[in-house]
Amino acid sequence: MTSAVNSSVSPALSAVPGETPSVGLIGWRGMVGSVLINRMLEEGDFAHINPVFFSTSNAGGQAPSFEGVTPEETILQDAFDLDTLIKLPIIVTAQGGDYTSEVYPKLRQAGWDGIWIDAASTLRMAETSIIALDPINREVIDAGLAAGVKEFIGGNCTVSNMLMGLGGLFTHDLVEWGTAMTYQAASGGGAKHMRELLNQFGTLHSTVAEDLSDPAAAILDIDRAVLEAQRNDLDATQFGVPLAGSLIPWIDADLGNGVAKEEWKAGVETNKILGRGENLAPGVTSRGAAVPFDSLCVRVGALRSHSQALTLKLREDLPLAEIEQIIASGTEWSSFVPNEKDATVARLTPVAATGSLEIPVGRIRKLEMGPEYISAFTVGDQLLWGAAEPLRRMLLITVGKL
Ligand code: HSE
Repeated sequence: MTSAVNSSVSPALSAVPGETPSVGLIGWRGMVGSVLINRMLEEGDFAHINPVFFSTSNAGGQAPSFEGVTPEETILQDAFDLDTLIKLPIIVTAQGGDYTSEVYPKLRQAGWDGIWIDAASTLRMAETSIIALDPINREVIDAGLAAGVKEFIGGNCTVSNMLMGLGGLFTHDLVEWGTAMTYQAASGGGAKHMRELLNQFGTLHSTVAEDLSDPAAAILDIDRAVLEAQRNDLDATQFGVPLAGSLIPWIDADLGNGVAKEEWKAGVETNKILGRGENLAPGVTSRGAAVPFDSLCVRVGALRSHSQALTLKLREDLPLAEIEQIIASGTEWSSFVPNEKDATVARLTPVAATGSLEIPVGRIRKLEMGPEYISAFTVGDQLLWGAAEPLRRMLLITVGKL
């Protein structure tokens, strides 16, 4: 456990070895933060920490009350107050990248040497940070902790979900290269994006509700009315263009070289999590050359779970049964779905995956290109393994409870 260094540390907020550590929680009210708190409550994580709740907008207000949780301070602390933050040995934030960019450098400049656990992408590719996904990279995390790494960042949601499902193939070093074609849910954009999608569905339905209730109404008239509404009537403030009844084949920033930032993340984060390639965090020895991994990322009208179709070139021609076994035992949460229609449509959809920590992987078959080429399809809850779960587990590792 790392101790805070500031000489004006208040005893209440210090990290005293052997005592329950104080943990600052920032952004706990947002979508990712709320899922994080719910998971911490479900798993009894608060028994291992003294939570200090912060707010960016309501400092001085009442700290939240959760059954069985006693906040260290009864009022919300100011998330921009460095004097308070600096007293904490551990800070967990799901507040977002702007907050991290503003506060984190100042905190380090002020001498804070605590552990920063963050959902935002800001620090993910910093050479001083580790992307936390412990069922896949616990050795990388432990090596970093032993070497004094103090930034542990949750990975991109599609990357974390993909590795939680297919990680076995990567950790056995069986993947020569891979591609992921993603089908990402509205939740990846945030709460406002989810609402926008639902409102768009509502608008479209009400546009044609009368005709829909009439079985004799011509479907092409309905189709025309829907298209008209999509082009003229939908509020698309968040996504920029309509998503309901459509899709958007670009996610995150345009890097200017034909690559969407989300697609760039797939390759660099996959390798960083696996401890492959170069520029890894202190203490982390590279486990080999980076595996070429690329993707094409598409936003679809799913609400909360991200899906992806993969093509992998394996280093060997392995029997399908062995591939299936390696996938199924990749993590405790990977689950193999037989490549049959009934099992696939029942288990391998966003609707089936949402709310579950299980990461189903299916559609595994050899491709026409050759016996080393396989397809796969996986889907996972973007807010669980894709966001909150790696953070709460990293917190438990930090306090020696996992
Ligand atoms: N960038 C992701 C998305 C969010 O837009 O779906 C989760 O990292």
